Amino acid sequence: MNILDIIEKKEKGENLSKEEIEYVINEFLAGNIKDYQMSAFLTEIDLLGLSEEETINLTDIMLNSGEKIKLDISPIVDKHSTGGVGDKTTIVLAPLVASLGVNVAKMSGRGLGHTGGTIDKLESIEGFHTEMSLEKFENQVKEIGIALVGQMGNLVPADKKIYALRDVTGTVDSIPLIASSIMSKKLASGADSIVIDLKVGNGALVNSLEEAKELGNLMVKIGKMNGKKTACVLTNMDEPLGLAVGNALEVKESIDALNGKGPKDLEDLVIELGGLMVSFGKNISIEEAKTQVRETLYNGKAYEKFKEWVRAQGGNIDKLEIGPNQKEIKSKETGYIQKINALEIGKLARKLGAGRLTKEDIINPKVGIVLNHKVGDYVKEGETLLTVYYDDKIITDEEILESITITKEEVSKPKLIIDIIK
Ligand code: URA
Repeated sequence: MNILDIIEKKEKGENLSKEEIEYVINEFLAGNIKDYQMSAFLTEIDLLGLSEEETINLTDIMLNSGEKIKLDISPIVDKHSTGGVGDKTTIVLAPLVASLGVNVAKMSGRGLGHTGGTIDKLESIEGFHTEMSLEKFENQVKEIGIALVGQMGNLVPADKKIYALRDVTGTVDSIPLIASSIMSKKLASGADSIVIDLKVGNGALVNSLEEAKELGNLMVKIGKMNGKKTACVLTNMDEPLGLAVGNALEVKESIDALNGKGPKDLEDLVIELGGLMVSFGKNISIEEAKTQVRETLYNGKAYEKFKEWVRAQGGNIDKLEIGPNQKEIKSKETGYIQKINALEIGKLARKLGAGRLTKEDIINPKVGIVLNHKVGDYVKEGETLLTVYYDDKIITDEEILESITITKEEVSKPKLIIDIIK
């Protein structure tokens, strides 16, 4: 077997056997297949796709490329988001479902590009740390039902190496490559059930509904084939989720949501995803699970669990700094908000220092943007559209106003939950 024959076989439109895919992944990991050869292989997959069977085999090979976590705890439910602007859902969901007796033992990432990472957001709480040994991780889940770490162990090394190459070769947006990357990591981290929030829209990895459905169906199939209860919720990411974009600002908004005072779209999403997680974890109906989720958002239990979690990971919730400067941006028109461009808002928040352009960039946790309105709202000229929280970097009013479109015609509110694949 050699990489050239395999690339040529794929080029002719033929399907690869499991052995051939295994050869490519293992030899790439061993350094015998060079980056330029792997780039050609990945580009071919990006252009020509993979069959369902090839994708399932690729996922399995990636999953088996490293360690797998097996905790002596049940039930454990994992949640994954494909990433969006203002997506602080995990910070609300994890303590919420843990407060209902469903364990969350989660690995999360840092942000790169225009979307933020959960780890960066949580680290805006002074003292909060996300590095711990597997033993401490397991003990914390046993004690309080929740632990969240960055990387741990040598899980799916194939994904680390392949993703780094995809990132610089324009092959991130391939459906089979996304499905195998996400699912190999979810399967390696040892949860019994997996709920995926698949964002669709201009601020998301996947822009078209058709592609999102294909990806969702594929991931659910892979999860179930591996014996996991799996669901994928397709959600709108044309406008930011909630109102806050920026690390400490998003934690503040999460605290509001944990006290039943969050923005409606964030709360709706938390109830939908939380309902699935609790239904999987406790083996109860979705409706019963959603009732429990709603109750715990309003009776203070979810927030109590959040405080317990923050304390367990060394954080001081009273030390959450924002700003230090703020500036209100006023509307120049009267009318209905037609569009709040999630991608642009994400990029503007990054320009303020809330995100990274390269892995080496240092985040300023205090800065960001807080919207006053969502798509469909009516605003008057001179009314505050949003507040910019800034420190040493600034953005112009024009840049911000360009990301928001206002029209005279009435605009209906976009649907947040587009589809649920189970
Ligand atoms: N998130 C992942 O973990 N992998 C991808 O390929 C895309 C998003």
